[in-house]
Order: sequence, then structure tokens, then C-alpha cells
Amino acid sequence: MPGSNPRFVAKARELAVDEVFLDLEDAVAAAEKERSRALVAAALRDGGWGSKIRAVRVNDVRTGWAYRDIIDVVEQAGQWLDSVILPKVTGPLDVGWLDLLLSQVEQATGLEPGRIAIEAQIEDAAGLASVDAIAGASPRLEALIFGPADFMASMGMRSLTVGAPPPGYAGGDAFHYAHLRILTAARATGLQAIDGPFAAIADVAGLGASAASSAALGFDGKWVLHPGQVEAVNAAFSPAQDVYDRAELIIEAYEYYTGVQRRGAAMLDGEMIDEASRKLALVTAARGRAAGLVRTQRFEPPR
Ligand code: GLV
Ligand code: MG
Repeated sequence: MPGSNPRFVAKARELAVDEVFLDLEDAVAAAEKERSRALVAAALRDGGWGSKIRAVRVNDVRTGWAYRDIIDVVEQAGQWLDSVILPKVTGPLDVGWLDLLLSQVEQATGLEPGRIAIEAQIEDAAGLASVDAIAGASPRLEALIFGPADFMASMGMRSLTVGAPPPGYAGGDAFHYAHLRILTAARATGLQAIDGPFAAIADVAGLGASAASSAALGFDGKWVLHPGQVEAVNAAFSPAQDVYDRAELIIEAYEYYTGVQRRGAAMLDGEMIDEASRKLALVTAARGRAAGLVRTQRFEPPR
């Protein structure tokens, strides 16, 4: 939500999203940047965010706005802020700078040291080339976020629609390399991988396809830009009931076969399951539980 627009920010409180970020960067006009800091701090202080993660996206480290974005927002509302989104991260130093500045403001204002997390946006060629080093740059890091708009511009992709496949590309998914590289860096360091925005608000089918693709690859979530995008993205990132049931079934069956029958591998409905199947099932089961799904099937031990 643009931090310059209190009406949009107020609306965000009602949305069925896991995280809200109040933007000071590209959704805020240059002339509104300074005024928006106080609006964002007030929105955090006013509360009403329920269990949503409360994040602020500051301007990038190569602007003259970045340091004061952090100082003003964290001084005025640090205790109500969970995470800072740092855009256009090009290397580990960008993250190190933010980590140190946050530590200084925390120390000066008596905030709990290290509680405010960092999410790094990977959205240009330099950032993607350094993504492994970025992922290890600070213990505050919680997520790497792919930024398709800036990335498409940085790479020279021939498209004018943020997040949508560039027309004419015949090589498959144009974002596959960036997605997989970010996901690998995130998983290697225990971070979440989050996919970025899809700007064609009216194209819910296109958004659904984009979200389904990054969810299938392993991403943990995706940004939305508009209330009309929430449902499609939540649906894409929550396992279907039958897939969730199957995951719980595999876990239960594996426990039985290893624990009771003392076998490391067994057949379940024509498919072999072993320790690796259990690990795979745990991923889907955790996502289903997080999405509030309830299992509808039980494992029946063979007689
Ligand atoms: C988001 O910031 C993007 O560039 O896609
Ligand atoms: Mg961007």
C-alpha cells in the first residue's frame, strides 16, 4: 500500500493477507516521500493489524531518502514494526548497512535489539548475480523477494506489463532462472522466498497462473497490489484439500511402516514411500496446516 495514501492504508487492515507493507518507495511520488514517513509511522502506531506482519518498504540505499526513512519510521514506531523491506539490493553491503543502522536506532531508543527483520528485494542483474552473498548478509534477514518490474527493466525484457510473461518469448518461463536462483539462495540460508507483483489487476487468470507457477516451484508467497488479487494468490499458495490429505496420509503411513513394521520403504496406493517422501509430505502438510486446512482422511493399517 502506498504510504502516502491513508485511505488505502486503512483498507489494508481488512484484507485476508499474511503481511502488509506500507510503501515509501516506488508507489510514492518523489514530492510525497518526506510527508509519507510520518503517515506510515502513524499507521503502525494506530494498530488494528491483527496477526498480520507489519512491514515498511524504504527507499533504496543509493537514494538520499533511505537513511531518514529508517530513522524516522523506527524512531517513531519501531515497536510496532516487524520488518523492513529493502528494495534494489545489489550486494551484501546494502543489507549490512541497514542492519547497522537499525541497530543504532534500536540502541538509541531502547528497542529490543535485532527484533526488526529485513526482507531483501532482488530486482536487478547485480542483485541476482550476488544473491547468495546477500542471503547470508545479516541474521535479521527473513526473506528474499523477487521484484519482476525492476528486474524486467534491468534485463532489457521486452514487455510493458509487470510480472506477466514477455510476449514473443518462446523459451518457456522467462522468470524461471531468476526464481530458481532466488529460491536456492533462500533455502540454502533458511530464508523465505517471496514472488513479486503482477500489475494487470483485471487479469485474475494471468495472476493465478503466475502465482501457481511460483508456488509449484516452492516459493512461500507472492505480493498483491490490490484487494482483488488476494483470493487468487491465497488459493495458489494453499495446498488443495486432496493434496493436503495425501501429505498427512504419507506421514502417518510412513510412521506405521517404519515404527510398527520396521520397514524403511513401503507401498502406499501404488506409490513407494520412504524417508524422502516423508520430508516432501512435511512441506505440504505444514503449508496446509498454516492455511487452516483440516484433514479428511485417515491411514488404515493393512490387516
Ligand atoms: C517490485 O518492486 C518490482 O520491481 O517488481
Ligand atoms: Mg521494484
